Amino acid sequence: MADDRKKDQSIFTNALMRWIDERFPLSSMIREHATEYYASKNFNIWYIFGVLSTVVLMIQLLTGLFLTMSYKPSVQEAFNSVEYIMRSVEWGWLIRYMHSTGSSFFFIVVYLHMFRAMLYGSYKKPRELIWIIGMLIYFCLMAEAFFGYLLPWGNMSYWAAGVIVNLFTAIPVIGETLAEWIRGDYYISDITLNRFFAFHVFALPIALIALVVAHILALHHVGSNNPDGIEIKEYKDEEGKPIDGVAFHPYHTSKDLVGITIFLIFYCIAVFFVPEMGGLFLEVDNFEPANPLQTPEHIVPAWYYTPYYAILRAVPNKLIGAIILVSAVLCFVILPWLDKCKVKSIRYRGWQYKLALYLFALSFLVLGYLGMMPATGIYVILARVFTVIYFAFFLLMPFYTRFENTKPVPNRVIYKK
Ligand code: HEM
Repeated sequence: MADDRKKDQSIFTNALMRWIDERFPLSSMIREHATEYYASKNFNIWYIFGVLSTVVLMIQLLTGLFLTMSYKPSVQEAFNSVEYIMRSVEWGWLIRYMHSTGSSFFFIVVYLHMFRAMLYGSYKKPRELIWIIGMLIYFCLMAEAFFGYLLPWGNMSYWAAGVIVNLFTAIPVIGETLAEWIRGDYYISDITLNRFFAFHVFALPIALIALVVAHILALHHVGSNNPDGIEIKEYKDEEGKPIDGVAFHPYHTSKDLVGITIFLIFYCIAVFFVPEMGGLFLEVDNFEPANPLQTPEHIVPAWYYTPYYAILRAVPNKLIGAIILVSAVLCFVILPWLDKCKVKSIRYRGWQYKLALYLFALSFLVLGYLGMMPATGIYVILARVFTVIYFAFFLLMPFYTRFENTKPVPNRVIYKK
């Protein structure tokens, strides 16, 4: 009886699939991107952050949709509408905390995802375009978070947006006009709030989705890298399948489910128990409505921008500071061409790159901390020292990577190191 039912179901599914396939290439897409997409057997924990970025993107899109149903993008109503969501809308507090925590978790997983690429040389040939599309995603993500930050119309939202938009006034000749054009007014006003809302809920999410699709298509075109930095496509069996690869579905998907579950546990702990994360995820000053007459004691952007903010404040001249800030972000884009080493993975690279990468990671973390501190005394001096280390990583790269003492790279992937 049960067997008959199963048979009926499979006849129905097969017929449905055939009907769809005659009209849309569904089966071939599933084969190309899942059941016959071969990725290396030896992926380690660093390989979970791409999937997690996709999960957080979906959480943000879904919770954002529900927030938009009750949020009011006007100076008179924005702050109160967020309070209304928190107190009166059913489950509103959960949706809002999921979204605000989600934005911080997004940057955590994306930063780890980028660091993985730097560990295993995933930005090198033939994956330069995956990296560049990734950088475009990163820029959109920064803009998306910046526009979103103004929306609650809290006092820190207001003043932080003011500081960032004011950076444009440092540009000679056109600076003032440009800042006015961005604000749509002489100061951060209702017009600014409206256009930031439009970018946050419409333009940037669409750009992000399109870029993520392009990112994954580019990845599937050249194939994934792995912790050994070996091109698995070069060693195939008689059927033409990479010997060191396994089908993405079901092998990697089932492993990814474990990673997603563990991630969701951490995410839920943050959402339910520490949504403010001691002022890191939601700042104290933002529980006060925006007040143009009352400047917060220290104007600090969200934590994921603070490394760049520390770099900006380390430079006394506003224009030079802004140029160095932009260069600090843009340096990542040219990484594939700065790195001259033939070996991809850190496992087989010389001490020169290992040392440089760890110093760079340290400088990023320390700058992140310094960006949250007042720009005075020792904090500024340290920010200057670590800014130099940050830039040295990129600018000296063509030299120290050319003469690295690399180890021989094996032909086949290995499991443990
Ligand atoms: C919304 C943000 C992002 C999403 C959803 C995303 C998604 C993914 C996914 C699913 C993968 C394949 C799985 C993996 O290798 O982890 C991947 C690979 C990759 N991503 Fe991203 N990504 C994002 C942002 C970025 C950023 C900001 C960069 C760097 C600038 C980047 C660089 C890369 C590289 C180089 C690979 C290939 C890795 C390899 O094969 O070793 N991605 N991405």
